[in-house]
Amino acid sequence: MTTRSLWLDTPLPGFPTLTADRRCDVAILGGGITGLTAAYLLQRAGKSVVVLERDKLAAADTGHTTAHLAYVTDLRLSKLVDTFGEEAARLVWQAGQAAINAIEAIADKERIECQLRRVPGFLHASLTEKSDETHALRDETDLARELGFAASFRETVPHFQKPGIVFPNQAKFHPRAYLAGLARAIEQGGGAIFEQSEATEAAGDPIVVKANGHSVRCEHLVIATHVPLMGKTALVPATLFQTKLAPYSSYAVGAVVPKGTLPEACFWDTSDPYYYLRVDSRAESDYAIFGGEDHKTGQVADTDQCFVKLEAMLKQILPSARPDRRWSGQVVETNDGLPYIGETAQRQYVATGFSGNGMTFGTASAMMICDAITGKENPWQELFSVDRKKVRGGVWQYLKENFDYPYYLIADRLSSSEGTATIDVPRGEGKILTLDGQRVACSRDDQGQVTTVSAVCPHMGCLVHWNGAERTWDCPCHGSRFHPSGEVLAGPAESPLEAISRQQTAAAS
Ligand code: FES
Repeated sequence: MTTRSLWLDTPLPGFPTLTADRRCDVAILGGGITGLTAAYLLQRAGKSVVVLERDKLAAADTGHTTAHLAYVTDLRLSKLVDTFGEEAARLVWQAGQAAINAIEAIADKERIECQLRRVPGFLHASLTEKSDETHALRDETDLARELGFAASFRETVPHFQKPGIVFPNQAKFHPRAYLAGLARAIEQGGGAIFEQSEATEAAGDPIVVKANGHSVRCEHLVIATHVPLMGKTALVPATLFQTKLAPYSSYAVGAVVPKGTLPEACFWDTSDPYYYLRVDSRAESDYAIFGGEDHKTGQVADTDQCFVKLEAMLKQILPSARPDRRWSGQVVETNDGLPYIGETAQRQYVATGFSGNGMTFGTASAMMICDAITGKENPWQELFSVDRKKVRGGVWQYLKENFDYPYYLIADRLSSSEGTATIDVPRGEGKILTLDGQRVACSRDDQGQVTTVSAVCPHMGCLVHWNGAERTWDCPCHGSRFHPSGEVLAGPAESPLEAISRQQTAAAS
């Protein structure tokens, strides 16, 4: 069973690291769908752009999505209307529609072969609950139609024998093939892309971003790093902003299925957390990508069990499926269900909190940021603003999401460690040890090599947990993730887990 996402099999062009000082109109941190789409649009609007990617392009979140392109949001339309009103709910779905249209137009203009297909999206009754959802799904259909979106109720959606709604004209694509085309277009247009170039500081006016010991001087800064970095925002507001975000892990299994078992489409159910399925039609057989089992990052001890449960559910709904790969990805939720997109400091923009709609909200963010920088009005600006005043319907959700922080901060420090010597850590695993009185995150690779780093998350001091499925250290408080050797894989942490000296470790072994 492969543990790489399907998309990572497709290579992207490589780009150099930053080795000299640069100047540009806009510096963009992050080479995923938001960063590269923003770079492409800004460049087409006449701006000079520099993209700085900490690792490799489209390797993190965009490389681990299941790449549904849907304007149907995770938050039910009725909930959107209850919380924000009809006009706002319509605008949210229109943002998704506009994003799908933009991806289609860019792929067409730049002749990007990214397997983009318009397909129907089916929202169907829960795979796990037995209650009759017919009435609620009918109401949801009527509401979508009242707001001007095509939708029809089905007594049974294909294959599932459950009531549901079909939304025509959703889409799916190959995200890395798309980003490979975007990166080529940016480069051909004169934009500069640097990989393995982590921004370590941003300050001043004009803004100076430091990376690899060099400076990028820019008029505008776009932070497109999924969980936003602080940039030039002051510590307190930046940290407060990060507490409005809740990172979740989601799991996906890829499986070969006999041709024609299901229509080529996207499916979601109404469970919480929900299951999602994408079916790609192929020459000999079809391919299904089935996802779900979401949980707050760092808060499930045995992450392998998430795959086990997901595969069991896949076998239940598709007994003929032959799973051949699995992977997991990160989803950032917000306290009111809408993304945060906009200016967090003068001429500094962030985009985050896309929930399960990363490809569409990522693209919509890029469109909004491009409009903001080029001085154009944008219909979604107020709705998604990072300082929207009212935490509409979200106060309790805010408290709930941040309930975990003090709990884990204290509970993990009081709990007993998982060992006191590196010999306690088997191959392929990681444990929190107490060495020399310090909490140490210790992992051992398949060759027996031991790596030890501090277990204290540099963001706000919680202890990290081992994620056995991904072989990473994950923080249960705000979801930062780290390589076994401590480098940041995903924020909000901006610095690595501190190194532990070899003598200390050896002395305690
Ligand atoms: Fe906030 Fe670790 S991510 S304390």
